[in-house]
Amino acid sequence: MIKTLPKSLALLCALGVMASVGHYLQDSPYNPSFSIIPSAVHAHVVLGGLFLLLVPLQFFSRLRGNGTHKATGRVLVSIGLVIGVTALIITLVMPYSGNAERLFITPFALFFLYAIITGFFAARARDFQRHQAMMIRAIAIATAVVTMRIVFIPSMIWFGSEELTPEVLSIASFTFAFIFHSAFAEWWIRTRSTGAAEITGDLKAA
Ligand code: HEM
Repeated sequence: MIKTLPKSLALLCALGVMASVGHYLQDSPYNPSFSIIPSAVHAHVVLGGLFLLLVPLQFFSRLRGNGTHKATGRVLVSIGLVIGVTALIITLVMPYSGNAERLFITPFALFFLYAIITGFFAARARDFQRHQAMMIRAIAIATAVVTMRIVFIPSMIWFGSEELTPEVLSIASFTFAFIFHSAFAEWWIRTRSTGAAEITGDLKAA
């Protein structure tokens, strides 16, 4: 199963890129508050799509030896910082689900930023095991935005009601997706760490 994970990740990333494209295919945004700071929303959506387009490259071991992994990684860290900061701006200033969104999304946006920054400095310190673990955690949160949509759309069809409004189901789907992806990431990190020596050696060749 562990060998098929990068392929599943690539599929999730492709769906995430489609989510970014989909944002621009809507007649009008589902969240009218996006007009408060539209530049933050555009930066978030466009760079989020670019982030997910580049992420799968980091899992090709062949690209580690020729400097591509490092160069792409620097781009990913830079745009990841903008994605995290704009996620915070969207969550705090123009939340679709009000205070519940502020409460539940803010910790994940902060952790996303923390994981990217820590992962970057771990690579610079040549602590590649920690680097991999932190980057897997960041990618788990980034790809959760896809699972959120996979959960949200059926939940609207099956459970949508006067109480279970789109705002409630949206934040419930977000929270489920972030927790599920984070738990999965921890499992993946532990499973991979059984072959840590091999992984570390491979990365050190970069
Ligand atoms: C890195 C890949 C990411 C992509 C491709 C992405 C994509 C998007 C898109 C397309 C939207 C606009 C909503 C729509 O029109 O459907 C959006 C909104 C949003 N994103 Fe992201 N995003 C990413 C990362 C993140 C991260 C890391 C967080 C926080 C942990 C986050 C939190 C949010 C929030 C809270 C909203 C607004 C939801 C609302 O209140 O309406 N996103 N994102």
